[in-house]
Parts: sequence; structure tokens; C-alpha cells
Amino acid sequence: MNFIHKNGVQIISTGSCLPKVKVSNKDLSYIVGTSDDWITTRTGIQERRVISQDESLLSLSCEASLIAIKRAKLIPSDLDLIILATSTADDLFGTASKIQAEIEANNAAAFDITAACSGFLIAFITASQFLMTGAYKNILIVGADTLSKWVDWSDRKTCILFGDGAGAMIIQASNQYNNLIDFDIKTNGKKNHFLNINSLQNSTGITLSDLSMNKMSYDYISMNGQEVYKFAISQIPEIISNCLKSNKLTTDEVDWLLLHQANERILKTISEKLNISQSKVLKNLNLYGNTSAASIPIMLDEAISSKLIKTGDLIVMSGFGAGLTWGVALIRWQ
Ligand code: COA
Repeated sequence: MNFIHKNGVQIISTGSCLPKVKVSNKDLSYIVGTSDDWITTRTGIQERRVISQDESLLSLSCEASLIAIKRAKLIPSDLDLIILATSTADDLFGTASKIQAEIEANNAAAFDITAACSGFLIAFITASQFLMTGAYKNILIVGADTLSKWVDWSDRKTCILFGDGAGAMIIQASNQYNNLIDFDIKTNGKKNHFLNINSLQNSTGITLSDLSMNKMSYDYISMNGQEVYKFAISQIPEIISNCLKSNKLTTDEVDWLLLHQANERILKTISEKLNISQSKVLKNLNLYGNTSAASIPIMLDEAISSKLIKTGDLIVMSGFGAGLTWGVALIRWQ
């Protein structure tokens, strides 16, 4: 993709926050007909975190954000913009403004982006545009989801997959560095029905001439697992290899595959199709399951904290999920 930019995009810091309660596969076997062996073999997930009464999407997001802000040696009032990627906002009108208030980022505009498991990637690319044009200097991006509130805990096909969490990143406009080499985002709305949280119309019983007044609520997550699986293992290798090729990069030059943490078999198949060694695939889904928009920033935060990622490394970040949406960002670490 050719894009003109005034500034480069520099990733300054990350942070993450996970609920304190762990739910193991064995725990799940007490509530649905499943087993540790089935879940581990099919998904690689061993446990996930689930929010308790005293935690929320907002509390996890604020905690992750404050860690990232502190590590960036900034104060909240330095932020120009906050973008929250989530599909499970505490408020249907958005939760980004509540983060802004809670952390006292009084100079920041704030809004939500809903793009399911591609949400963080899309928020990162969106935020980068504001930096490249010179509109803003400091941006906080948060990827957070609490899908535990939206899964049907009696549906063994979905409840085993998801977990809650939040990850944050501070990016800055720079005239010295540019971490974002290139990106691409795609959508296939014709396959939207493969992964949904559908709305439900509930009659209020109030009518006005021919109109029946309804109140909206939402159903549980519904998913066609096999179709989502096929989508991920076909589209992700393709978008990554095309993006690398158009930047005259080869898969041999990739240091890290930072993929949405959906399923270990999906990650393995994608890396095999790209001919990228398993040792270059960043993975923590065994501990947290699929945390949707939070999975990429949590994984990145852990990889940075454990000093896996080094200066000069080429990172391929790729998100995919409901929409269906998917995308890639090529990052040179500095
Ligand atoms: N425990 C035990 N058995 C289970 C089970 C569970 N948790 N979930 C499903 N099964 C059973 C099914 O009932 C079925 O039994 P049957 O043959 O007697 O009908 C059998 O296992 C196979 O089910 P199927 O749905 O075909 O399994 P699968 O091999 O496709 O694996 C997923 C299911 C969900 C693990 C897999 O489809 C997947 O990972 N898809 C991608 C999902 C994803 O990542 N979504 C998020 C993307 S962002």
C-alpha cells in the first residue's frame, strides 16, 4: 500500500491486565460435556481468565492503559486520542470515553472501534493515520474484551474458546523512526453469519398505531467453527505473504509472527503455510484462550517484557475474526 506520511509511527510502550480468576479445562468439564484432553488437542487452550464481580472491561482497560502510560514516561494529560477496540463495551454508546474520564486523560478525544478479533490491529492502523498526518502526537490504543459475558456457558462448542483481558499500547508521532512498514485490511461481510452476537427484538407491549415498540437485547455468541477455521487458515497466509511481497520482504526475514491467539492449530497451520518456523510464532493462548481484541496487545506486552523482541526485528502482526475481518501490519521494532 502506498501512503504518504508526514511523520513516522513509533511504538513507545505496552501494558496488559488480566482478570484474577483462572478457569481451567477441568473446571469447564464440570459444567459442559468436555474434557481437558479434547480442548487441549483441538485448541491448545489449557485455561482462560474470567472477570469477577469487582472487575469489568473498564477496570481491565484502565489498568492496562496506566501501565503503558507509565512505561512511556507520559502522564494521562499528554494523550491526544484514545481508541478502544472492543466488541463487549460496558456501554453500547462506547467505553473509550469512560477510560478517558477514569484515567483523567483530559485532553484526549476518545472513541470505540468494533471489529471483533481484528479490532486491535484495525485500531492500531487507524491511530497510525492520525500520527502520520501530523494531527496528533500521543495516542493510547486499547484492545479489551469480556466475552465471558456473551458466551453460552452450556454450549461446549464455544464456551471453551474464549477468555477476558485487556492490552494497551502507546504510539507516538516521530520524525526519526517509523515502526509501521505497511498494512492491509480486508472484510468479507458475506460470511458475517459464521460468527455473531445477534441482536434480539423484545416487545415492550407498548404500541403506537401500527408500531410495536421493542427493546433490544443480544443473543449468545454463535459460531460455525469449521468455517471460521477454514477462513483463518486460507486468508491469513495469503494476506501476509502478499504484504511481505509488496514490500520486497521474504518470509525468511520475519522474526516474529504476532497472530491473534485463536487456536493453536490455526497458528501452526498459518506458520506452516508461510514456511515460518514454529519458534517464531508468539503464543500464550494456552493460558488465556481467545481474548478477542485483547489477544494481540497482551501477547506483544508479554513478548516485550520477556525481552524476546529485539531492536531491528521484523514483526508480522495479524488479526482475524468476526465480520469477517482480517488484516496485517508489518512492524520493524526500534
Ligand atoms: N468437548 C468435547 N466435544 C466437543 C466439544 C467440546 N468442547 N465441542 C464440540 N465437540 C464435539 C462435537 O459435538 C462433535 O461431536 P459429534 O461428532 O458427536 O457431533 C465433535 O466434537 C466434532 O465437533 P466439531 O465442531 O466438528 O469440532 P472441530 O474439530 O471443528 O473443532 C473447534 C471445533 C471450535 C475447536 C474448531 O472448529 C475451531 O477451532 N474453529 C475455529 C474457531 C475460532 O477460532 N473462532 C474464533 C475466531 S476469532
